[in-house]
Amino acid sequence: MALPKSRRLDFTEIPVVDISKLVAGDDDSATIDAIGTACRNIGFVYVKNHGVAPELIDNVLAASGEFFSRPMEDKNKVVLDERLRGYLPLRYRSYEGEDNAATSNQEGFWMGTQRPLNPANRLDGPNVWPENGDALRNAMETYYTAASGLAGHLQRAFSLALGQESDFFARMFDRQQSLLKVNHYPPQDNPTSVSDIGVVPHSDEGGFTILWQDETGGLEIESKSGEWVVAPPLPGTYVINLGNAMQIWTNGEFSSTPHRVINRYGADRYSVPFFAYPRWDTPMKPLFDDTDDDGDVEICEAYQVRKWRRIFPIANIPA
Ligand SMILES: [Fe+2]
Repeated sequence: MALPKSRRLDFTEIPVVDISKLVAGDDDSATIDAIGTACRNIGFVYVKNHGVAPELIDNVLAASGEFFSRPMEDKNKVVLDERLRGYLPLRYRSYEGEDNAATSNQEGFWMGTQRPLNPANRLDGPNVWPENGDALRNAMETYYTAASGLAGHLQRAFSLALGQESDFFARMFDRQQSLLKVNHYPPQDNPTSVSDIGVVPHSDEGGFTILWQDETGGLEIESKSGEWVVAPPLPGTYVINLGNAMQIWTNGEFSSTPHRVINRYGADRYSVPFFAYPRWDTPMKPLFDDTDDDGDVEICEAYQVRKWRRIFPIANIPA
């Protein structure tokens, strides 16, 4: 039997916040309050007037579309490495969010900050690019820089919404480990199992995600009542959602909300998530309490490696 249809939200139920003042350097209190309220109550918010030029996304889509259209044997020459750089093959197997393996009806390509290998930090390393991949490299590197700028504005908003100094998160993200990914989801008619959809139900691992999605649709968010609701594409916006790290740092004040992707819409779906991760030695613990005993606290690097080993077995990440 096919999975039941999900409820289609009126988009105002996930607020759309105009962040033009924030982008201009004005930490406008109404903007901060709107973002803070969404972070506490939903964990998702749309932002518009975000300052990222649309042609930067167009360039990423054009270059990644060319790459995704190549033969699988070519794409697999740059298969995902142990620092999550490279090609994630269509219908990869994952243990994300559950004990049983699931199949993701998705392919993707990842990059991060270009750094030399670093024995102290398993996440540092060079990006990998396909042969004749200059267009992809240029488009993704340019977009990565722009998304990092938007991430900085959002970090200020999150800091102030939590009653901290405006640069609280900026100092944590000063040597970011953020990752940029391009996703391609083929259409899927009448999926019958939640273990075989675009992306199985999960919550993101990092600090927060800046998601561009095309007009096809497919993102669904789990409401507090357990009902799956559609987060429709809204041209000119980004979907911002918080990750598990942010939920841990804020001791649950900000919500990392489960979501999934089912492309039921008869056309290919493309999306471009920028996963904002802080410096690798950030402690994974509530940050605003007065006890600063870091005794056995896991750092972000160890946390990410532990999670990625389950989510991306194909990357063969050593323990
Ligand atoms: Fe996600």
